[in-house]
Amino acid sequence: MLLLKIVVFSLTVIDAITSPQDSVCETCLCLNHQGQFIIDCSNKNLTEIPPDIPYNTSTLILKDNHIAEIKDYIFSNTKLVNLDISKNALNNLSQNSFYGLESLITLNLQHNQLDLDNKSYPDDVFKPLVKLNSLDLSSNLGKYTRNPTYPNLRHLISLKNLKIDGIPNLNLEDFSHLQNLTHLNFSGNCQTADIVFINSFHHIFNIEELVLSQCHIRYIDNSTFSMFPRLRFLDLSFNSNLGFDRASMALFSLNSPDMRVLNLSAIVDTFAVGVVISALHMYRLKHLNITEFYLDHNRFELIETEAIPQIPKYIQLFSMRDNRPTYGAYLIGLENMMNLICLDASYQYMSHNPVRHLVSSQYVSSYSKSRYNFHELCSSDLTWPRHQNPNFTEKEQSRTLSSSELNTPVGKGDLHGHSNFPALRSFHDILNPKLSVPIPVPPNLKYANCSYCVLSYPIPKMRFENNSVKVIDLSTNILNKWIGPVTGLDDLEWLSLSNNFCDYIGDTFFHYFSNLRELYIASNFLAVVLEADVNGNIFRNLQNLEFFDISDNKIRVLPQKLLRGQVNLRSLHLSKNILKLWTLDIDHMDDLQYIDLSSNQLTSLPVKFRNFGDQQYIKNKQLIVDLSYQTLQCTCENLPFLKWMKSNKTIFLRRNEYTCEDNKGKELSLSNLDGIIIQLEKQCVSLTAMIIVLTGSLFVIASVLIGSLVYRYRWKLRYLYYLTRSRYRGEFALVNDAETEFEFDAFASYADEDRHLVTQGMREKLEQEQDLRLCIHHRDFVPGDEIAANILRAVRNSKKTLILLTRNFLNSYWCIYELNMARIESISTGRNVLIVIVCERIPVCDLPETLVQLMNDDSYIDYTDDPEGNVVFWANLTRAINSD
Ligand SMILES: *[C@@H]1O[C@H](CO)[C@@H](O)[C@H](O)[C@H]1NC(C)=O
Ligand SMILES: *[C@@H]1O[C@H](CO)[C@@H](O)[C@H](O)[C@H]1NC(C)=O
Ligand SMILES: *[C@@H]1O[C@H](CO)[C@@H](O)[C@H](O)[C@H]1NC(C)=O
Ligand SMILES: *[C@@H]1O[C@H](CO)[C@@H](O)[C@H](O)[C@H]1NC(C)=O
Ligand SMILES: *[C@@H]1O[C@H](CO)[C@@H](O)[C@H](O)[C@H]1NC(C)=O
Ligand SMILES: *[C@@H]1O[C@H](CO)[C@@H](O)[C@H](O)[C@H]1NC(C)=O
Ligand SMILES: *[C@@H]1O[C@H](CO)[C@@H](O)[C@H](O)[C@H]1NC(C)=O
Ligand SMILES: *[C@@H]1O[C@H](CO)[C@@H](O)[C@H](O)[C@H]1NC(C)=O
Ligand SMILES: *[C@@H]1O[C@H](CO)[C@@H](O)[C@H](O)[C@H]1NC(C)=O
Ligand SMILES: *[C@@H]1O[C@H](CO)[C@@H](O)[C@H](O)[C@H]1NC(C)=O
Repeated sequence: MLLLKIVVFSLTVIDAITSPQDSVCETCLCLNHQGQFIIDCSNKNLTEIPPDIPYNTSTLILKDNHIAEIKDYIFSNTKLVNLDISKNALNNLSQNSFYGLESLITLNLQHNQLDLDNKSYPDDVFKPLVKLNSLDLSSNLGKYTRNPTYPNLRHLISLKNLKIDGIPNLNLEDFSHLQNLTHLNFSGNCQTADIVFINSFHHIFNIEELVLSQCHIRYIDNSTFSMFPRLRFLDLSFNSNLGFDRASMALFSLNSPDMRVLNLSAIVDTFAVGVVISALHMYRLKHLNITEFYLDHNRFELIETEAIPQIPKYIQLFSMRDNRPTYGAYLIGLENMMNLICLDASYQYMSHNPVRHLVSSQYVSSYSKSRYNFHELCSSDLTWPRHQNPNFTEKEQSRTLSSSELNTPVGKGDLHGHSNFPALRSFHDILNPKLSVPIPVPPNLKYANCSYCVLSYPIPKMRFENNSVKVIDLSTNILNKWIGPVTGLDDLEWLSLSNNFCDYIGDTFFHYFSNLRELYIASNFLAVVLEADVNGNIFRNLQNLEFFDISDNKIRVLPQKLLRGQVNLRSLHLSKNILKLWTLDIDHMDDLQYIDLSSNQLTSLPVKFRNFGDQQYIKNKQLIVDLSYQTLQCTCENLPFLKWMKSNKTIFLRRNEYTCEDNKGKELSLSNLDGIIIQLEKQCVSLTAMIIVLTGSLFVIASVLIGSLVYRYRWKLRYLYYLTRSRYRGEFALVNDAETEFEFDAFASYADEDRHLVTQGMREKLEQEQDLRLCIHHRDFVPGDEIAANILRAVRNSKKTLILLTRNFLNSYWCIYELNMARIESISTGRNVLIVIVCERIPVCDLPETLVQLMNDDSYIDYTDDPEGNVVFWANLTRAINSD
């Protein structure tokens, strides 16, 4: 019992010892990361710093809380390395706030309310921080702080990076004792820094990176920058009151051999007009060894031609976004920027926002889904990146043009005099298409961005001088016809002509871009010209193309052979067109792995496409297809497609968002593809069965019907058949009216067994005595012709048909045939053709129905052998034959 009590007691004690640390890790996120203990308390509504920070904590993050105070000695029991109390409510520090933080390397206090005065920062508050490397005090300065002064940073002997607010009449003397300070950034909150810098040669700074962006600077003393012999990076951007004149005057004194990056963006008024960069401005910068030069948002309209030779010669990246350049000789002069690799001339003539007084610098890098960020891409290709020393000797040796003009120092007097700059002479020649002078390009230029440039003309035939251009972005202009051919861009790998209102591509326009790997022609009006290219001529030579974007062009049908040259294509973008059917041939594209077909009007994909997908799967180059934003079909006909989709051999991007329509027009979500397929399979099986049964029974009914009809009208049909045939052969006149002379007066229809009746009596009585012409088949039928045809001819060519009714007659097929033909002839011509002669008494029940009817309707003549009746009989018969 006692033992148990002791155990419980000791457990409680242990618990009590570990609980404080547990409590901070309960509210905050604690983690061991690479041997460092990190406590992240950001955004936890804390109002004070947790008192129980474990001793071994190296990083403490307290940002986004409501902490108002750092109590004395609160960190004394820690050895913190990184401390972040940004975005809190601190309004003062006390003398011993940072006591014990001898190991601290970074301290972030930005976005608090620590006014720059001696109330917020007691004199020795930073004294313990001897190892502090980075200090961020920016965004603290209240709007109405009176006479702000910088706190005492004297003790921060290791400080390298300082971010702090800029105060009016900024005097850099305050920082001169920070010998290790290399990065100084005033741009957090620099709203009140009106006039900057001391006029003193007494201080030398080791600062390498100085940021004075958005500081409302109006004036910089002439000698200010002479104090920075180590400067590499200077950002004076967004000081719209500074102006080129003042900025260049100050920069004239800058004498740092390490100078690399100069940013003079937006240093004129945002609505300035007629800004000219003069030769004098450039002359003052000429000595700078800068490799990156930013002149964005300056609304400059002209660079004086004389200024061209003054442009610092080692520039590799020249950014002149958002200006208003007019055409001038200087454009050609740019060719003499021998080291230029990147030229960003995008976004010209943009409107500036009158409210914000600045143009947003957050432009999208290029139109639609280009996969690149111009500055990133181009920076990776700079031969002298920001932190690497250029090998000037090497580059100078590689120059092709002897540029004595560039090297001759130009005095102020020479600047506005005549210039013997060679570009001036060729400028007009270049603009003259008849001379066909090749267009000069800076020899090392690789990246050129002229999207949003308001270039507005058809692209004519063009020839470029030797160059190494790799990337050209001309998207979002009004280059509305691409006539070409464009030659000389042999190294071009990336070209965007998207969003240019273009509706015409010349057959040879793309013929000389043989190294092109990515082509963007989205958002134009190319439907008609592409649909007409049935032989695939336009893109024929682009055999290295890997990425092709033709989206948003209102294309209805892609000609089968349109992309026949693109054997290396990997990614094809066809979204936002109005394709209803997939018609394009892609079988030759061995590496094709992505097709974007979203936002079209496809309902399915054909077997050919599916086979291609399967084939890529086998080759381990699985195809990815995007079919979103259109309504597929969930019908029985489309079941094979849906099953193929399910097989996962081709990956469908965002498949769960697809919709499809069933045969009743109901919209279904394809997220339930399995369910849809099962349902359809059931439906389609019963449907197939039903279709088989239905067609079967229909067939039976139809055959019965047709059979009975044929039977019913068998005589009529035969009659018509032979009639037509004979007419076709021209045997009958088309109209057989009453006036027509018949060939015979009577056609005798009799069974062969009854031939004696005809040969003995009839021929003698009728032909010889009465002079009537008889048609007797064994005598008058045309030999060699079909019997049926002969019979019809006999019936039609005879005025009457005599039926010699005997039992033999009834048993003879051909006799019945003759009877029926004659009957049909009667019906169809309306003349009374038949004369029935009853030669033998036959019971009515043995007679065929048609004959009985006939004998009922018309009278018949009884044949008789006795001599008296005989006379009457022949008389009757003769009359009957002669009657109409
Ligand atoms: C720091 O101490 C805590 C407990 O106090 C422990 O959980 C953690 O592992 C320690 N971290 C390091 C890096 O020693
Ligand atoms: C902090 O407080 C706000 C409002 O008082 C609340 O909406 C929010 O959820 C709280 N956050 C945390 C992490 O407790
Ligand atoms: C410092 O701030 C705390 C909290 O706002 C306040 O109580 C204290 O009076 C301030 N000290 C001075 C000297 O202003
Ligand atoms: C703060 O500075 C003002 C003048 O700038 C001075 O009058 C005042 O005595 C100083 N206060 C402290 C506590 O040092
Ligand atoms: C500056 O930093 C170096 C190391 O980077 C150090 O040796 C030197 O003491 C520092 N200078 C001062 C004044 O602390
Ligand atoms: C200077 O500070 C501003 C504001 O915090 C920041 O946006 C900018 O990137 C910094 N500049 C450099 C070169 O670090
Ligand atoms: C600064 O230098 C320019 C010429 O470079 C000169 O005209 C101007 O007077 C100088 N300003 C001062 C204040 O010295
Ligand atoms: C530019 O670099 C060259 C070669 O390293 C050097 O001689 C020259 O002094 C530098 N120019 C400036 C202004 O530092
Ligand atoms: C600079 O280039 C020259 C000529 O190619 C070469 O001899 C020299 O070694 C290079 N220097 C450096 C530091 O790379
Ligand atoms: C295909 O992939 C989907 C989702 O990735 C999965 O649910 C389904 O089972 C797969 N079908 C086959 C046949 O592998």
